Amino acid sequence: MQNDAALRGERAAAPSYPMPRVSPVDPPPQLAALRAGRAASRVTLWDGSEVWLVTSHAGVRAVLGDRRFTAVTSAPGFPMLTRTSQLVRAAPHTASFIRMDDPDHSRLRSMLTRDFLARRAEDMRPVLRELLDDMLGGLVAAGEKPVDLVAGLTIPVPSRVIALLFGVGEDRRDFIEGRSAILIDRGYTPDQVAAARDELDGFLRELVESRVADPGTDLVSRLVTDQVRPGRLSVEELVPMCRLLLVAGHGTTTSQASLSLLSLATDPGLADALTKDESLLPKAVEELLRFHSIVQNGLARAAIEDVQLDDVTIKAGEGVVLSLSAGNRDERVFPAPDTLDPHRDARRHLAFGHGIHQCLGQWLAKVEIEEMLAAVLRRLPGVRLAVPFEELDFRHEVSSYGLGALPVTW
Ligand code: HEM
Repeated sequence: MQNDAALRGERAAAPSYPMPRVSPVDPPPQLAALRAGRAASRVTLWDGSEVWLVTSHAGVRAVLGDRRFTAVTSAPGFPMLTRTSQLVRAAPHTASFIRMDDPDHSRLRSMLTRDFLARRAEDMRPVLRELLDDMLGGLVAAGEKPVDLVAGLTIPVPSRVIALLFGVGEDRRDFIEGRSAILIDRGYTPDQVAAARDELDGFLRELVESRVADPGTDLVSRLVTDQVRPGRLSVEELVPMCRLLLVAGHGTTTSQASLSLLSLATDPGLADALTKDESLLPKAVEELLRFHSIVQNGLARAAIEDVQLDDVTIKAGEGVVLSLSAGNRDERVFPAPDTLDPHRDARRHLAFGHGIHQCLGQWLAKVEIEEMLAAVLRRLPGVRLAVPFEELDFRHEVSSYGLGALPVTW
């Protein structure tokens, strides 16, 4: 039955996006309702603008794989997902290649591909095992319970890995962690975010200049030697590239590892399956990536030509938001999508995006998360929450959804 507004031919107001969660570990239920409808739905962002929201697995892949959609923030209609999205638009010279289209994007990305291959991530395993042994060994030896696995593990591990890649000393880790965290937190004002970005860029510029003067064996030195010196890459391009690696590789991995450890501490089926058979870990990590989909508000693009997406025409100059969490709960691809099943083959998940911008650091992230889970299973057998679930501090304001703390005992 049509309501009065529909009978008068009025368009219903597009619902606000992002929608609130009902359960902290599941995407907002409205997303499932939208997924059952048209290929894309109108939603209203915080600034009152209306954009398209795509919620199906097929739709998300179709848009992310289509060059008629741009990732350039200054393109007409580009969705401003947060107040701070405008910063990149206001200062396009600070944009890194995640906000570029090809050929600019692939020129810069290809300079990094060999450093982030699956086998290079594998090379990190022994280093990680030693690091994790030290960290968890220290926590166990201290004999104090409960311990917070966010402060004790999921923040320092990705941060040390990045510090190792960049050849940055331990003394600068707090600075890098702090500034990167501000860049992905909606709780800060655009001015605070701009200040954090400028401080980080100042630090990175100094780092690059020091490598120009005296190259070492780290990633930044390699880029200076192979790309900057022959004139293929400018220092002005290298600084945002380094910032992208720092920010993209940090909070995301921390969030995904924290939520994965939460699942381990609260889901006896998962803990049992992994304790019985550690070789299940890579599969379970893919499923945890699908299930938690920490890039909670999705990815933004704008159409540069009219595009027909099944029953919806997206016009040139219109913005589109791709909900990775909705796509990852699409029952047409993942039966019983709201169940975390470590035996499921979840490799088609969208947690790392799709298409030309698909996450460059995915192999590294997976190795880090596998090793963190393996170390906790070995060192903290029977790990469980030390506080009631309702008291956990879920980070709704951060673009990569996660936990402020994870107090556990064992
Ligand atoms: C669980 C952890 C991670 C998740 C869930 C994640 C997720 C994503 C997603 C969804 C994208 C696509 C963005 C878009 O299309 O607009 C992306 C891109 C990217 N990620 Fe990750 N990421 C993770 C870890 C990492 C790590 C560890 C690094 C590197 C140290 C990294 C570096 C990058 C880079 C450089 C891009 C841009 C790729 C491009 O534009 O070609 N990420 N990531």
